[in-house]
Amino acid sequence: MLGLSGGCGGKRSAGIGAVELLRERSPPPRRVGVGTGSTVREFLSELSSEEWAADAVYYPSSRDSALLLAELGFNVGHPGTVASLDVYVDGADEVDPYGRLVKGRGAALLGEKMLAYRSRYNIIIVDDSKLVDVLGSKKPVPIEVVPDALPHVLVELESRGLHPRVRRGSGKDGPVVSDWGGVIVDLTIPSGVNVEELDIVLHSIPGIVETGIFIGLTDAVVVGYEGCKWKVERYQRRRGILARA
Ligand code: A5P
Repeated sequence: MLGLSGGCGGKRSAGIGAVELLRERSPPPRRVGVGTGSTVREFLSELSSEEWAADAVYYPSSRDSALLLAELGFNVGHPGTVASLDVYVDGADEVDPYGRLVKGRGAALLGEKMLAYRSRYNIIIVDDSKLVDVLGSKKPVPIEVVPDALPHVLVELESRGLHPRVRRGSGKDGPVVSDWGGVIVDLTIPSGVNVEELDIVLHSIPGIVETGIFIGLTDAVVVGYEGCKWKVERYQRRRGILARA
């Protein structure tokens, strides 16, 4: 565990830790994928003062991240124009001891998974409140569903005991619709369910576009603690076309 002077919360600590990890990479990353959420905001605010970071192009996982990157003066690339990334940095809602994740509280899970999949090295940044023994134990698992598929998807998920709830947002009537036009549905995972099997089952239902279960996509997790402290856990990637190359 490393320390710095000055105060900071766990999210900022994780962001500082991620900047350190990026600094160590040689050659410096030139195509950087950027996740979504409050921990990513802390990371970007730390990164914006790094000189080398000005030479890279940043590919956002959501409109929110695109706007933030532009505001901070980063070079923003369109994610639809690049097949591979040198590195991807993102937060998570839950991280288990195997580096498996639940993501999607901010409804950006589809954009996030597309970037994580095409990136050669994935760094996940979380404060220590996100660590869990079992995925789905603290937070619901979000999925993205094509709107016209909702009726049969909800029936199917209910029959499997997953208690689907269409997410409804503040500031808007009706369902939360993602940047890609899908409806976000939150699932409650019964205890004892194998999340890897569940992920396969969910992908087999027509109309479910993507899930917030991220398996085999983590290379490193930076866990941030109060007081500018963090630790880095490393994992073996298991999935992804680029990882197999
Ligand atoms: C966005 O849809 C999510 O996957 C976020 O990456 C995740 O919720 C982490 O967000 P915070 O860093 O704000 O906790």
